[in-house]
Amino acid sequence: MATPEYTPFVFLLLLFQSSVWGFPVCQTPQESPTCGYKSCHATKPGMLNVHLVPHTHDDVGWLKTVDQYFYGDRNDIQHAGVQYILDSVVDQLLKNPDRRFIYVETAFFYRWWKQQTDDMQNTVKQLVNEGRLEFVNGGWCMSDEATTHYSAVIDQMTMGLRFLNDTFGHCGRPRVAWHIDPFGHAREHASMFAQMGYDGFFFGRLDYQDRNRRMVAREQEMLWRASESLTPPMADLFTGILPNGYNPPEGFCWDQSCDDPPIRDDPDLEDYNVDDVVTRFLHIAHGQALVYKTNHIIMTMGSDFQYENANLWYKNLDKLIRYVNQMQSNGSEVNVLYSTPSCYLQELHRANLTWPLKGDDFFPYADSAHDFWTGYFTSRPALKRYERISNSYLQTCKQLEVLGGPISRKGPFGAGDSETLKKAMAVAQHHDAVSGTEKQHVANDYARKLANGWAHCQVLVSNTLSSLSGSSAPRVYCEHLNISVCPLTETSKKFSVNVYNPLARPVSWPVRLPVNGTAYRISDAKGKAVDSQVVPVSQATAAVRRGRGYAVNELLFQVQAPPLGYSTYSVSLLQNGPPSPQSSPLPRAPKAVQNKFLRVTFDPETGLLSSLSNLETQQTVKLSQNFYWYNASDGNNSESIQMSGAYIFRPNTSTPFIISKTSLYLHVFQYNSICMRPTKRSRDSFHPWVSQVVRLYTDSRALELEWTVGPVPIGDDLGKEVISRLDSSINSSGVFYTDSNGREMLQRRKDYRPTWNLRQSEPIAGNYYPINSRAYIKDDKDQLTVVTDRSQGGGSIQDGSLEIMLHRRLLYDDVRGVGEPLNEMSDIYPEGLVVRGRHLLSLSPPATAADTHRPLAQEVVLQPLITFTDGELHPSTRLEFSGLQAVLPPAVHLLTVSQWDQDTVLLRLEHQYQASESKEHSQPVTVNLQKLFSTLDVLGVSEMNLSANQWKDEMTRLDWKKPLPKRGGDPSVWEVSLKPMEIRTFLLRVRQR
Ligand SMILES: *[C@@H]1O[C@H](CO)[C@@H](O)[C@H](O)[C@H]1NC(C)=O
Ligand SMILES: *[C@@H]1O[C@H](CO)[C@@H](O)[C@H](O)[C@H]1NC(C)=O
Ligand SMILES: [Zn+2]
Repeated sequence: MATPEYTPFVFLLLLFQSSVWGFPVCQTPQESPTCGYKSCHATKPGMLNVHLVPHTHDDVGWLKTVDQYFYGDRNDIQHAGVQYILDSVVDQLLKNPDRRFIYVETAFFYRWWKQQTDDMQNTVKQLVNEGRLEFVNGGWCMSDEATTHYSAVIDQMTMGLRFLNDTFGHCGRPRVAWHIDPFGHAREHASMFAQMGYDGFFFGRLDYQDRNRRMVAREQEMLWRASESLTPPMADLFTGILPNGYNPPEGFCWDQSCDDPPIRDDPDLEDYNVDDVVTRFLHIAHGQALVYKTNHIIMTMGSDFQYENANLWYKNLDKLIRYVNQMQSNGSEVNVLYSTPSCYLQELHRANLTWPLKGDDFFPYADSAHDFWTGYFTSRPALKRYERISNSYLQTCKQLEVLGGPISRKGPFGAGDSETLKKAMAVAQHHDAVSGTEKQHVANDYARKLANGWAHCQVLVSNTLSSLSGSSAPRVYCEHLNISVCPLTETSKKFSVNVYNPLARPVSWPVRLPVNGTAYRISDAKGKAVDSQVVPVSQATAAVRRGRGYAVNELLFQVQAPPLGYSTYSVSLLQNGPPSPQSSPLPRAPKAVQNKFLRVTFDPETGLLSSLSNLETQQTVKLSQNFYWYNASDGNNSESIQMSGAYIFRPNTSTPFIISKTSLYLHVFQYNSICMRPTKRSRDSFHPWVSQVVRLYTDSRALELEWTVGPVPIGDDLGKEVISRLDSSINSSGVFYTDSNGREMLQRRKDYRPTWNLRQSEPIAGNYYPINSRAYIKDDKDQLTVVTDRSQGGGSIQDGSLEIMLHRRLLYDDVRGVGEPLNEMSDIYPEGLVVRGRHLLSLSPPATAADTHRPLAQEVVLQPLITFTDGELHPSTRLEFSGLQAVLPPAVHLLTVSQWDQDTVLLRLEHQYQASESKEHSQPVTVNLQKLFSTLDVLGVSEMNLSANQWKDEMTRLDWKKPLPKRGGDPSVWEVSLKPMEIRTFLLRVRQR
């Protein structure tokens, strides 16, 4: 297919295939550095080799904000200053070439690097080239694994790793993934790390029962087969469990923050302790060797924010190595060395053993019988939602940066950028950020950073939309549509609505706008009239917006937007005045609502949901739904004093309290494009702190439950953990399913773990799992799937039942360090945070359920961006635009479209179905890269690893099992084929048309 007109592409290929043609693209020039595996210290084959790994764990925000941590501000909260750590470590590394240090969090390293002189930068490059300073993990942060979405994780890893590659070349590429602190480990993370080219993965936390068993069986190292769809070893990752979390062995902490005795080695002085230190050390080393397979063990010499005065650590480590190794002349068979995780990994690899295979994940994590870290799956639900829509917004922003070209960054609306939001999102992936386990002021800082990123993106988006549409009318953003607040639509008599769709297929999407009129005329981009409906704003909404808007009605209409493009609708007021009489409250809930796909019935007595039918497949299940709260443990309990807190979920009793037995708080709307008015509505009253609107849209295969929870009352001095529970006639036999980081599904079985014999000690909390985008229960006939709009925790405690935790308000700290009860309040909600969100319910036969829930979840993750312009649009305005030449096949998701360099664009294509999940879609698909974009000519293409820090053809990973299968020659370089669950990453060389 490469015709002569594409010569630039041929040139590009030559350049990228540097290894073949000798262009020094990826090799670092000049003297050949000895970083990576080549820089490891020699070990002694016949001895027990102890790898000392000096390290610091620098949280990208937790008790202090990321910037406070960097500078060492607010040391009254926690003594920690990352700039001093890096200053001090570099200084100490220079003093002795044997010393090693690893650095992990690129968010901090980047801040520090920018402030260094050229001299210092060259010195650090030298240390990196010699393997004395080694980057490990290397993402912008060490992401949380339970509450993150894979697309945001890939982005943050890409950003950190790109900085390292740009700055240090191949010696800056980490070989090891390092998640020493996250509170449980997701299979999708392991799969991503494998595809990012990591040779191995180490972590610190796993269930205490699992650890005990693994220690006895010497199974603390394994091969994690992290995908059921991808062909091994594509998602295989060697995984090791660290011996002591990530701390040094007891008695060997020599940081300024520790109190362990230094090595006092002058026999003329008091308290000479070398013999004692050596004896204790040998004892610990021998003990540790008993629970690992090889004659290599690792000791993590460091902890949170340590090495601010690195001299303390290194001076003692130098001595420790010297004195312990001196014993070898007396017959000791222990050899201690400065090492790094990759040097340790290399030795495990050389051992040439067969490692056990692991197929499930490491959730939930319990550190003792009543201490399940399953609360943070839901903690800070508003921040979790803000993070998720920020991801949607960032993807749109990046796409529009590519589609708009240079004018997006400097156009009629000023200077905009996607960089600010990229960084804010990357920081938000940290394991104390979106996880909700940070202090309140730090959570505020994450949100503020995201908001600042939005502002920068808004300028960019305005520039691009103005350039694409040819109209520079000021563009208005309404970020509070979820609570029916938008000053423009509330007041304007004539405005236009631009709907940008970031997906690679057209979407049909219901838009609800706050208005004060009672009738509007709406026309689409072609001038065709669009059906609409005006319904009153619910009392719950009026209450939650707290004077931030005064719309009495909502204007509802269905919009269509083309793939990777926008469509513009114009709206004009026809009739002012009070709410129309037909929308006034009716006394009873409707008995049923239906559209062409679903029928929902309600119990006439209680008004609660009573059944759900799929009209296409003619299946019906009994289904009810209601809200309950668990009484959070205050620690006053005979079994354990553990309290429920930001991390830990521990209900005082396993039976939750019902909030209301009737549907007083349910409002049911049926949106019907034919009759154009709400058919029926329950009485317009609501429970003081929980309410719900049930919506069935004309074009939707899902029933929407919009819940609003809060302020959670605590006047009774009881902490509360609020759930929505579905109870159905589905015979789920103790099994339910949750997604892993929004991608593959995992089976969960009540009171059971696939890899060990569980002794269950917390019947509720011990059966909770992270839900990132969906969960389902099923039997032979029926599958009920719930798509969530953010990460939440949930479980299936009874057969046929599925519960999802929505909100938590707690009165005690759970003693895992954060030091605050999770009791969210703000200026707007001084009596407690109010949270609103949506669950989308669908019912299908199990064999075709994915065909509904995959696209549904995707529309929630990447939702359209709605912007407004006031008044009449100029007639020359381009009302519709698509950045794609054609719709992509339904199995293909356009995961990333992002400007890389001036003429290059990073593209990720994803097959979004699992193998054998869908008859129709779980098939290989092909995409032609040249026929992708409508505004860009694609001149060249080169494939990269998932994190875009390595060319695919240079990607060689340590082989733990069998050789990498060679990819069959593509029929054409432009035709890209994707197998189920595959993500392929490309750098495209492009030219704006
Ligand atoms: C890594 O960085 C070097 C320059 O330091 C560059 O030549 C190379 O192309 C980069 N690799 C990738 C995969 O971006
Ligand atoms: C690894 O072990 C296998 C036997 O399991 C053996 O055939 C092979 O030669 C060994 N490789 C090395 C490098 O020692
Ligand atoms: Zn941490």
